Amino acid sequence: MPGAVEIKSQKVADELKNALPSKLEVKRVSKTFEAKRGEKFLALDDVSLNVGEGEFVCLVGPSGCGKSTLLNLIAGLDKADSGEILTNGKPVSEPGRDRMMMFQEHALFPWLDVIGNVMFGLKLKPNLNDSERREVAKYYLHLVGLDRFLNSAIHELSGGMRQRVALARSLAPNPQILLMDEPFGALDALTRENLYGDLQRIWQQRKKTIVFVTHNIREAVCLGDRVILFSPNPGKIREEFKVELPRPRSINDPALSEVSSVITAALKCHLDAKGVME
Ligand SMILES: Nc1ncnc2c1ncn2[C@@H]1O[C@H](COP(=O)(O)OP(=O)(O)OP(=O)(O)O)[C@@H](O)[C@H]1O
Ligand SMILES: [Mg+2]
Repeated sequence: MPGAVEIKSQKVADELKNALPSKLEVKRVSKTFEAKRGEKFLALDDVSLNVGEGEFVCLVGPSGCGKSTLLNLIAGLDKADSGEILTNGKPVSEPGRDRMMMFQEHALFPWLDVIGNVMFGLKLKPNLNDSERREVAKYYLHLVGLDRFLNSAIHELSGGMRQRVALARSLAPNPQILLMDEPFGALDALTRENLYGDLQRIWQQRKKTIVFVTHNIREAVCLGDRVILFSPNPGKIREEFKVELPRPRSINDPALSEVSSVITAALKCHLDAKGVME
């Protein structure tokens, strides 16, 4: 990455100090949805998961196994029917700036330029004035490699660049937990490859606890300290795998393929057992 951004004020330097990453506990969480015709659908069944401070955990599993549902519950966007979710020992009851979410669709504001989008998330920081917010936003845009695009319009950016803006926007409020729902799912392989490297660097630099949802097992192995395998009907955790490969990891590393094959085989086995696959 090119030279660092110069930080002029002490207040901004304080703002940019790493927030201590949170511990996350999901305790026996179940969630039912009511389908249109009134029947109940068990999206998450008695799911428990502990994520350590600064750990990078990936959730994988086929469509409909409750990955996004769990992320929404952790974000406080929805409520569990039973069980509880704790961050640093405190129950989650609503959305908060300690937990930022990033989606597959970038959800940026098209009427704001790149830096405007990142500054938007800082509006609620009463201790910062406008020029300090701008400095903070610049720091994060540098972190994601977009220094040269501060004043670009969103429609001028490629899909990968938009996701970089979305990442900078999620990081800017300095959350302790970053929740990522298939953030690279719509990008081509080469663009994704660059983002894997950058996300690992940023995670290590900013010390976040990350819960990352993906369909892509190689992606999960490339990024995660642990890969948690879900299966559907009802959504349940079936197995988990610790990934001990050294970092930074490259998606093309043959050792990574080996670990991915083991997890893919396990997933097939769980789905076969449930009759989900032929
Ligand atoms: N608001 C809702 N109302 C009704 N059913 C829902 C709602 N949200 C999710 N579901 C159902 O709950 C199940 C789990 O959905 P969820 O979106 O969590 O799956 P997912 O693992 O994220 O899938 P995908 O990989 O396709 O994103 C699905 O069967 C879905 O149809
Ligand atoms: Mg989903």
